[in-house]
Amino acid sequence: MNTHLFKNIVILTGAGISAESGIRTFRDQDGLWENHRIEDVATPEAFHRDPELVQRFYNARRSQLKDPNVQPNAAHLALAELEHAWEGDFLLVTQNVDNLHRRAGSQNLLHMHGRLDQIRCLSCEEVIVWTEDLAVNESCPQCGIKAALRPDIVWFGEMPHHMDEIYFALEKADYFISIGTSGNVYPAAGFVQLAWKARKIEINVKDTEISRAFQEHLIGPASIEVPKLVRQILGE
Ligand code: OAD
Repeated sequence: MNTHLFKNIVILTGAGISAESGIRTFRDQDGLWENHRIEDVATPEAFHRDPELVQRFYNARRSQLKDPNVQPNAAHLALAELEHAWEGDFLLVTQNVDNLHRRAGSQNLLHMHGRLDQIRCLSCEEVIVWTEDLAVNESCPQCGIKAALRPDIVWFGEMPHHMDEIYFALEKADYFISIGTSGNVYPAAGFVQLAWKARKIEINVKDTEISRAFQEHLIGPASIEVPKLVRQILGE
C-alpha cells in the first residue's frame, strides 16, 4: 500500500471490535441484545414506560466494564498505536458505548452513540462521569432534582453525538476504515458514502449490508486483521 498518499484517516468501529474482549454484539443470531428486545431497552419510550428495567439493563452493561476479563484487545491497541504514530489527521469514531478504545490509549475519539460511563440529567442537561449502578430515584449531583438521570446513551430515534465534527472529517478523509460493524444502523452506515475521496477498507468476519461500497475487504477477526493492517499502513 502506498501510504504516503494518505493523510487523513477516519476509522469507524462497531460492536465487532469489542466481541473478542467479551462484550456481545447487538445483532446476535437470536435477534436479542443480552436477552432483551432492542425496543424494550434502547428507546426513549422504553425508558418512559419502565425506567427500572432500562436502568437495570445499563447498570449490568456498565458493571461488565469492571470485569477483569474485559480488556482492550489487539485491535483496540493497534488503533491507538496507529494514532500515535500517524502524522496526518486521525479520527476514531465509535458506535460502541464501552470504554475499551479509551483504555487502549486512543485520544482523538468520538462516541457517537454515547458512553456507558457517563449519565445525563434530563432536568439540567449536565453530563456526569458515572461508573456505579444508577438508581431510578437518584438525585442529580448538579441540580439536585430526583429521578431525572438517564444513561448517556443515544437511543433509537435520538440524534447521534458529534455529527458536525464527523461529517467534516469524512469530507476530508483520504482513508476510511470500517471495523466490526454490520452496516444496519444509520447514519453510521452511510459514512462510507460520504468519504467520497477516501480509499475505503472494511474489516469484518463476514460480508455486511454495505460491503459493496468498500474497495478492500479484510475478512477475519478484528484482533488479527487490524494489527496486520496497521503494520502495513505504518510500513513496518
Ligand atoms: P452489530 O451487532 O450490528 O454488528 C456487529 C458486526 O461485527 C457484525 O457485522 C459481525 O459480523 C462483526 N463481528 C463480530 N465479531 C467480529 C470480530 N471478532 N471481528 C470483526 N468483526 C466482527 O453491531 P454494530 O454494527 O456496532 O446502537 O451496531 C450498530 C448500532 O446498533 C450499535 O451502536 C447500537 C445498535 O443498536 C445503539 O445502541 C444506538
